[in-house]
Parts: sequence; C-alpha cells; structure tokens
Amino acid sequence: MRLQRAARNPLPMTPQEITLVQTSFAKVAPIATRVADLFYSRLFEIAPDVRRLFPEDMAGQKKKLMLMLCAAVGSLDRLDALIPVVQALGERHTGYDVTAAHFASVGAALLWTLEQGLGPAFTPEVKAAWTSVYGMLSHTMIDAMERLPKAA
Ligand code: HEM
Repeated sequence: MRLQRAARNPLPMTPQEITLVQTSFAKVAPIATRVADLFYSRLFEIAPDVRRLFPEDMAGQKKKLMLMLCAAVGSLDRLDALIPVVQALGERHTGYDVTAAHFASVGAALLWTLEQGLGPAFTPEVKAAWTSVYGMLSHTMIDAMERLPKAA
C-alpha cells in the first residue's frame, strides 16, 4: 500500500506549496497570452535547438500549453485524477521527439516567465513551490515516456 502510493506520487507537494502555486497562477492567468509569448521566446533563446520540434505558427501551441497548465494547477490537490492525464501527455511527447534532457530548459523558461509575470510576488517560497510542482509534472511525464516500448 505504502509502495503503491510512493509510485503514484513520486515527489509529493505540501498543501502550502499547492496553495502558493494556485494563487500565483491565478495572478498571471489574466495575462495568459503574454505569459505564453514570454515563455516560448525565452525557451527558444536558451534552447534554440528545440525550435525545430514546434510548428512555425505557435498560436495553437501557446493556447494548448496554457490550458494544460491551468488544468494541472487546478488539479494539484486531486493527484489521482491528474497523474494519468500527465502520463498520457508524457507519452504523446515521445511522438514530438522530446527527450528527458529537454525538460531542464523548459523548467528554467517557465520559472523565468513566472518571475517576469509576478514581479515581487515571485517570492523564494513561490519559486520553491513552482520548482516542486514542475518537478512532479516533469518526473511523471519522463517516467511515462521511458516506460513506452522503444520503436524498432
Ligand atoms: C510540464 C511540462 C510540459 C507541459 C505541461 C507540456 C504541455 C504540452 C501540451 C498541452 C501540448 C499540446 C499537445 C498535446 O496535448 O499532446 C504540447 C505539445 C508539445 N510540446 Fe510540450 N509540454 C511540456 C514539456 C515539454 C518539453 C520538455 C518539450 C521539449 C522541448 C515540449 C515540446 C513540445 C512539442 C514539440 C509539442 C508538439 C508541438 C506540435 O507539433 O504541435 N514540451 N506540450
């Protein structure tokens, strides 16, 4: 029973971290378009090699990312429902030629973007909470990617 729980929730977040992530995300949600613009321009600046993985027109991708982040942040206190969705997202990323190594740049771009969007509200506690949540999301996605049978 204990083992099963650990496997499902590899990097548990505290209730306080969940609240910090939810309240800080609510502050940037009204400027979601700007957040997505900032995020991808930062990502392509720090990791230019990933630009080729994305379509030329990024409008649809920006919306999909923000919707998924919004859904994930809203479900952090219902991990049983969230984890299978994030696992399926990870499995789909294999088809986009994404590898485990790419997650560090995406995490760095996300934290940088939140810092820009939140300004002084991006406190060390908020940063630590987002680091924890991004760690949980990326760990779950990478784990699902690595479980997929390798293409011959
Ligand atoms: C927590 C981490 C991530 C989240 C929440 C996320 C979210 C999404 C979402 C919602 C989509 C839309 C398609 C779908 O639902 O399958 C998508 C597509 C995509 N993501 Fe991610 N992603 C993450 C990490 C990454 C990483 C690390 C990369 C590597 C550069 C990446 C590259 C891509 C690419 C290339 C596409 C497909 C674009 C296309 O061809 O339309 N993602 N992502």
